[in-house]
Amino acid sequence: MEKTLCIIKPDAVKNSFVEEINKSIKSNGLEIINSKQIQLSKKIAEDFYSEHAERPFFSELVEFMTSDFSVVQILQGEDAISTYRKLMGATNPEEAEEGTLRARFAESLSKNAVHGSDSADSAIREIDIMSKIFD
Ligand code: CMP
Repeated sequence: MEKTLCIIKPDAVKNSFVEEINKSIKSNGLEIINSKQIQLSKKIAEDFYSEHAERPFFSELVEFMTSDFSVVQILQGEDAISTYRKLMGATNPEEAEEGTLRARFAESLSKNAVHGSDSADSAIREIDIMSKIFD
């Protein structure tokens, strides 16, 4: 069974989409094995998104991700990484396929409702970073 890291971002939490998003996750065969509502610290957000540190949107991304509560979750299931990425849709909601989480719930490229690990290596790294918040 594969695991992946899911974040329901501050825009989606504020808009009360958590329940709907988790209903879709479960109906796509994924189990939510950990879930915690938390306001991310700057340190965790910077570490989590460190691959984007040199990108022009990095400070905006960290500011947004620490601005309010997120729901951080570990999902488990067969092909969890690709199943959840397909369910999320494209990063930019304007390009997300109809019916995907970002097409349904995202406001913009930065306020794009959800995050998911993009590879097996990222999933291990992201779960490791977030594991301390589940303790
Ligand atoms: P996420 O899947 O969480 O990974 C990195 C995030 O950076 C991405 O979703 C977007 O919300 C955000 N972001 C903001 N601006 C851009 C951009 N120009 N290109 C890619 N990602 C961006």
